[in-house]
Amino acid sequence: MERRLPQFFFALSMIVLALMLGAIWQAASPAWKTYQQEFHRLEAVGEPNAAAKSDVLNAALVIKQDLLPGLQRVDRCTTCHLGVEDPTMKNAPQPFTFHANLAPHIPAKFGCTVCHGGQGLATDQQNAHGQVPFWQEPLLPREYIRASCGRCHKEGEVPGVPELADGRRLFETQGCRGCHKLNGVGGTIGPDLTEEGAIRRFPEWLERHFLDPNAVSRNSPMPNFHFTKEQARALTFYMLSLTSEQMGTYYSSVRLIPSASYGRELFVEKNCIACHSIGGVGAKNGPDLAQVAKQHSPGWLDEQLVNPQLIYPGSTMPAYDLETNARKAIITFMASATAEDAQSILSQRTKPLTPQDAAIEAGKQSFARFGCVGCHGLQLQGGVPNPNSQGGEVPSLLHASDDYTKEEVVKIIQNGKVPPVENTARPAAPLYMPPWKSVLTDEDIHRIADYLWSLQKKKDAW
Ligand code: HEC
Ligand code: HEC
Ligand code: HEC
Ligand code: HEC
Ligand code: HEC
Ligand code: HEC
Repeated sequence: MERRLPQFFFALSMIVLALMLGAIWQAASPAWKTYQQEFHRLEAVGEPNAAAKSDVLNAALVIKQDLLPGLQRVDRCTTCHLGVEDPTMKNAPQPFTFHANLAPHIPAKFGCTVCHGGQGLATDQQNAHGQVPFWQEPLLPREYIRASCGRCHKEGEVPGVPELADGRRLFETQGCRGCHKLNGVGGTIGPDLTEEGAIRRFPEWLERHFLDPNAVSRNSPMPNFHFTKEQARALTFYMLSLTSEQMGTYYSSVRLIPSASYGRELFVEKNCIACHSIGGVGAKNGPDLAQVAKQHSPGWLDEQLVNPQLIYPGSTMPAYDLETNARKAIITFMASATAEDAQSILSQRTKPLTPQDAAIEAGKQSFARFGCVGCHGLQLQGGVPNPNSQGGEVPSLLHASDDYTKEEVVKIIQNGKVPPVENTARPAAPLYMPPWKSVLTDEDIHRIADYLWSLQKKKDAW
């Protein structure tokens, strides 16, 4: 027994020594050094002579990092992912493979984690890939990486990522805000989704939850919307893009990518075809647009969209309240638009084009631009509270033709209208219809009336 004790301590100290030596050896030759040596061997293959080969093979092993103050992070992924910017590494194995389609998001400016997740500072694979407890953002699975594009490109369409715009559209049309707040607007029955992409980056969970909330969240009050797989995927993409992280102005400067495909969408939405043709197809109230990008500079075209009056005094073309990149997108579309585009835009209309459409479109733009929507609503639905007016709110304009002729409506718009009061003892209603005759021309006002008339909901005939 007495002799066994020293033996035991000897064995124990040997084990401790082995562990310590192991730790020291590991610190001295961590996996990233092995990867860098391997990468140098790959590079050396392509070198022309022995001297150059040996230079490459003996290059120092160093931790590489991208300092990204504008994104509040430091990414060291390129310590192992050494070939991302080297096209000759197209067929090299991971982690050395060339990264296709990265430009203009170069590592020096964007790093990696803003798109991929993971833990930027770590230099061992498991920690870097974020597959450790308490790290909120493990690497996104491959098919969801593109959701991150929406962290910066928050509006319009991201080329190659239709899910983001589809998801945003679903969110805004399915009544999600009834129960969820997003950026301060919405109900409180469900959790606030403003940070959803930063808090719970488990795409599979989100997607299953959209297909059937109850399946992953027992007795969830969230209804089953019976979304298709594609819709659930689109909403998941959109959710993953929702973060309210602070970024430098450079990173948020391209909220909207000025792509031709988004330009086409705006061209349809703004109904430009009601006045213009492309390659002879479309309406003839304005010039044909097939050649405009060749005839005019982008700056000139931009001005034409912002302020047609400046370029053509007395212009009948409406001025558009579009942001810079939206205008860029339309101009990009016009530069490549063909008669076939016009044909396909026309064929997708629910109503065929009529000669009145030009006036109606101009009226619609004036209605939006001169602030009528502020009191009467985007859909003319009314409903803005107006205490002590009869009915208590600004009326809908969808039934004006029941009470007035078009000429009477023109007169109301010209001269304004004070709503009759509900109770003469109380103060007058705060909102009244201002007179517009000094602001809008008679022609403008008639076009607005045409627009209102195009939307009248007729009383059921009896
Ligand atoms: C210690 C070296 C090392 C570091 C540091 C590292 N990686 Fe990797 N990574 C690898 C290796 C090795 C592979 C390929 C083997 C594999 O798939 O596990 C890989 C694969 C990947 C893949 C593709 C496969 C997958 O798992 O989805 C992605 C994406 C990736 N890394 C991103 C990153 C990002 C982002 C960082 C920085 C936060 C990073 N890596 C840091 C070694 C590293
Ligand atoms: C602008 C966003 C973006 C940035 C920044 C970015 N990536 Fe990627 N990366 C992607 C996308 C999107 C894919 C998926 C491509 C595909 O589906 O083929 C991808 C694919 C990869 C893959 C292959 C994944 C696989 O499973 O095959 C690796 C590895 C990778 N990226 C590593 C990196 C590293 C390392 C960096 C930083 C130097 C980086 N990425 C920066 C968007 C980005
Ligand atoms: C961290 C923010 C950020 C993320 C994430 C991001 N981008 Fe970008 N993107 C930018 C910025 C900033 C530019 C402008 C770059 C420049 O010109 O220097 C840009 C430019 C672009 C452009 C060119 C726009 C033009 O002016 O023609 C496209 C296309 C694009 N990004 C697509 C994507 C896609 C696809 C993804 C996802 C794989 C993505 N971006 C992820 C910030 C981001
Ligand atoms: C009738 C109210 C209601 C409506 C409508 C509703 N939700 Fe929910 N939602 C909830 C409640 C309550 C929860 C929390 C319970 C759960 O996880 O299912 C929830 C959970 C969620 C979560 C998970 C949040 C988290 O981090 O745990 C997401 C994401 C979500 N909803 C998105 C949506 C979207 C997108 C829509 C519209 C298509 C929508 N919800 C419509 C009530 C609603
Ligand atoms: C109500 C009719 C109308 C609508 C709607 C309209 N335009 Fe115009 N546009 C015109 C007219 C008319 C001109 C000719 C110059 C003038 O009077 O301003 C014109 C001129 C132009 C020009 C300059 C052409 C040249 O060669 O001088 C461009 C470019 C243009 N429009 C683009 C658009 C786009 C893009 C839209 C949709 C966002 C649009 N227009 C909507 C009526 C319209
Ligand atoms: C400051 C709020 C406000 C703005 C801006 C405004 N309106 Fe009005 N509008 C009203 C109110 C209030 C009435 C009176 C409704 C009543 O009689 O109760 C009204 C009445 C009308 C009516 C008659 C409807 C009826 O049933 O009596 C028309 C048509 C109309 N507005 C069109 C317009 C147009 C076109 C514009 C933009 C050029 C516009 N309004 C801008 C507040 C506004």
